[in-house]
Amino acid sequence: MDYLHRIQHVLKQLKSSTPEELRGALISLNTTMKDLKPFLKIDSHKPYYRKLLFQNDEVELLLMNWSDLSCAPHDHGHSSGWIQVISGSTLNTVYRVDKGELPEAYFSRVEQKGSFFFAPRYGVHKMRAKEQELVTLHLYSPPIKEMIVYDLEACAACKVSDQCGAWWPEDQREKVKEWKLREQRVEKTNKLK
Ligand SMILES: [Fe+2]
Repeated sequence: MDYLHRIQHVLKQLKSSTPEELRGALISLNTTMKDLKPFLKIDSHKPYYRKLLFQNDEVELLLMNWSDLSCAPHDHGHSSGWIQVISGSTLNTVYRVDKGELPEAYFSRVEQKGSFFFAPRYGVHKMRAKEQELVTLHLYSPPIKEMIVYDLEACAACKVSDQCGAWWPEDQREKVKEWKLREQRVEKTNKLK
C-alpha cells in the first residue's frame, strides 16, 4: 500500500480523536523520509513549506519542510494534536499567555528525530530547525481553524485564514482579525505602583 493509501486507511477509521488515538494513528502510519520525499518542496522565504496530506471533519495531517527561519509564536485555535519529528531536530518554545497580553516564553526543549510532542488546545508555541533538514508531521483534531499568530516585537496578534501558516500574514486576505496586545512587564510594573 502506498503512503497516501496508508494515510486514508488509518485516518478514515478514527471516530473519536482523543490524544491517545491521535498518537496511535501517527505511530501506525510509520512514516519515513522515503514516504515523504515526493511531497517535499522548499520555501526558503517562509519558515516552512506546508503540505496538507489528509483532511476530513475529524482530523488533518500536515507535512512541514522547514527552512532556517523560526515560525512565529502561534496557537492552533480550538484544535489539539501531535507533532512528530521525521528528520533533523527542532527547538520548541512554549509560551504562557493571558488574554489580551503578550505571550511570555515559558520553556524551550529540543525534540529529536523520532520524538512526538503534544500541542494542546489554545497552547502557544514556536518552532525552528535546530539542525538542517527538519521535517515534521502534524496531526490535529479537529482541522485547525482560527489560528492566532503573534508578533512579539509589534505587540500584536492576528487571527489568520485556514490556509496561512505560522507566520505574520503578508496578504491582507489572510488576516481575519488583528489587534494590539498589552505588554506584561508594563502591567506588572503598574501594579507595583
Ligand atoms: Fe504549531
